[in-house]
Amino acid sequence: MADIIDGKAIARQLDDRTKAEVDALVVAGKPRPGLTVILVGDDGASQVYVRRKIKGCEKVGIRSSEHRLPADTSQEDLLALIDQLNNDPEVHGILCQVPLPQHIDTRTVLGAISPEKDVDGFHPVNVGRLSTGTGGIVPCTPLGVMMLLETVIDDFVGKDAVVIGKSNIVGKPVAMLLLERECTVTVTHIYTENLPEIARKADIIVAAAGAPELVKGDWVKPGAVVIDVGITRIMGDDGKEKLVGDVKFDEVQHAKAVTPVPGGVGPMTIAVLLHNTAQAAKALSNGADEDADPYHDAPDRSLIYGTAEGAQAS
Ligand code: GUN
Repeated sequence: MADIIDGKAIARQLDDRTKAEVDALVVAGKPRPGLTVILVGDDGASQVYVRRKIKGCEKVGIRSSEHRLPADTSQEDLLALIDQLNNDPEVHGILCQVPLPQHIDTRTVLGAISPEKDVDGFHPVNVGRLSTGTGGIVPCTPLGVMMLLETVIDDFVGKDAVVIGKSNIVGKPVAMLLLERECTVTVTHIYTENLPEIARKADIIVAAAGAPELVKGDWVKPGAVVIDVGITRIMGDDGKEKLVGDVKFDEVQHAKAVTPVPGGVGPMTIAVLLHNTAQAAKALSNGADEDADPYHDAPDRSLIYGTAEGAQAS
C-alpha cells in the first residue's frame, strides 16, 4: 500500500515554523511582515483564494491588507497602486491575484511588482534566478511540491523525475527545482507521445497537467513517488460533485507514496506563500540571508499517515 503524504499536516508544520520566524523578527525589533493582496474584479474562485490567504496571514502573525478593485480598473491605475506598494516600507509581499480582466496585460502587471516583494515568484527576475540556481523567491506550489517530496525521498541525486505539465506556474519551476537537486528531469505535457511509457520509468512523477485522472495505475512504476498537483471538480457516478486530481488515486497503490486530492499539494500553497512573505520581510529588513535554504530545510517525516485506504476513509 502506498503511503499517503499528508499535505495538511505538513502545511501546519510549516505554518508553525513561519509563525516562529515572524515572532523572532518582531522580538528583534524588525517590522512585522506584511502581505498586500490585490484583487481586480469579482471572480468567485479568486475571492475564495484571497480570503484563505488573508486568513492564513492571521494564523501566523503576518499583517495583511487587501485592495479590492472594480473589474473596470485601468491598467494605469493598477500599475500606480503597485508602484505605491513597492515603495511602502510596511509592505514586504505583494500578490496580485490572477486571472486579471482581459483589458489588463498580466505580464506587464506581474513584471511591475518589485522582485524583492514578489512572493508569488512570478517576476521574470525571480524566474531567471530560479533557472540559474541563484536564489530569489520560488513560486509557492512548486516549492510546496519539493517540501512534500522531501518527506519521503532521502536522496534525489540521479533520480528519474517526470513532470507532466509545462505551465509557468507549476511545471517549469518544479522541473528547475528537481534539476537543482540533481534529478534527471523529463518535462512532458498532454501532447507528449508515449506519455505512459515515459511516466513508467519515473522514480518521481509530478502530475500538473490539469487533466482529471490522466495518470493511470499502469503509468506508475512500483515504488515511485507520485505528487498530484491537479484539482478538478467533476460529477461522480452517484451524481454528486467531487474533486479529483490528475492521478487515478485508487490505481496507484503500488507507489511508494502519493498525495491525496484534496489534502495533498493544495494546503501547501498558502503555507509557502506565508513562508515566502516572512523570508521577503527578513531579506528586506536584514539584507539577504546567506544561509536561507528554502527547500532543503524541509519539514520532518513523521507527517505521512497510514495507507491509501486510511486516506479514503477520512
Ligand atoms: N490565482 C490562482 N492561484 C494563484 C496564485 O498562486 N497566485 C496568484 N497571484 N494568483 C493566483
